[in-house]
Amino acid sequence: MHMNEILTENKKSWNTVSHHFNGVDALPSYGPFAQSEDELHLFDQIKNKSVLEIGYGSGHSLRYMAEQGACELWGVDLSEEQRLTAESTLNGLNANLFCAPMEDDIGLPKEHFDIVYSIFAIGWTTDLPGTLRLVHSYLKNGGSFIFSWDHPLYPHMQMENGRIYLGSSYQQEGPYTIERFKGEDAPMVLHKRKLSTYINELIKAGFTIEQVIESDVGERFDGTEGEVSDRYYSLYKARQYPTTMIIKAVKM
Ligand SMILES: C[S@@+](CC[C@H](N)C(=O)[O-])C[C@H]1O[C@@H](n2cnc3c(N)ncnc32)[C@H](O)[C@@H]1O
Repeated sequence: MHMNEILTENKKSWNTVSHHFNGVDALPSYGPFAQSEDELHLFDQIKNKSVLEIGYGSGHSLRYMAEQGACELWGVDLSEEQRLTAESTLNGLNANLFCAPMEDDIGLPKEHFDIVYSIFAIGWTTDLPGTLRLVHSYLKNGGSFIFSWDHPLYPHMQMENGRIYLGSSYQQEGPYTIERFKGEDAPMVLHKRKLSTYINELIKAGFTIEQVIESDVGERFDGTEGEVSDRYYSLYKARQYPTTMIIKAVKM
């Protein structure tokens, strides 16, 4: 499938499933069962900073940024439905919301942002090197790019009757399709990529890596056992291997 076909198909599907993601995967959370920004403190100062979110979804992370005092809110997302939801979440706050693929250069200002971030969206890109080059171009010198995504091992792990096993080769990178995303008539194409691929592509795009986090279970689950479960995300699984990779990279 060609990149443009994937984007057209994924956009249609995101418009169908967006209602499942209202306020899900949004800051201060970095991902399912993972430590939150309140524990990790990756953002340093947000007050008076200009921020751009890649894949703003329902707009809850942008609202968090506004609450922390960001002076400019910008975002790009593939789905018109998500833009409508984000506008309602932001409830009149001044934000520049674009509906476009993150892969495209749509004329967002270059060398402009203090912070570019992405919570569970960057892995949707069909062109990781191109997307990272664009992100790098949007940042001022000294600016940070912080993102979270499924831990790269995650899509390979399977679960049956409480037993976790490797269902496919971690060595195998490339596109794969989920025919019924969120149980809806919404086929989605994603890409399996290794942790080293993300790191090496960031370096090639010109970034310096400041932190790589393979998530552990967040403090809010202290004292909660987590019953055996075959669900894609569960506390039980999260206690055994990371749900989320979180990377902070800097433009020097
Ligand atoms: C899990 S949601 C992100 C949620 C978001 N962090 C929030 O605070 O609500 C993933 C988002 O990525 C967007 N997306 C998927 N593929 C994309 C692409 N190629 N370019 C831009 N956005 C994309 C989807 O439309 C969806 O809104």
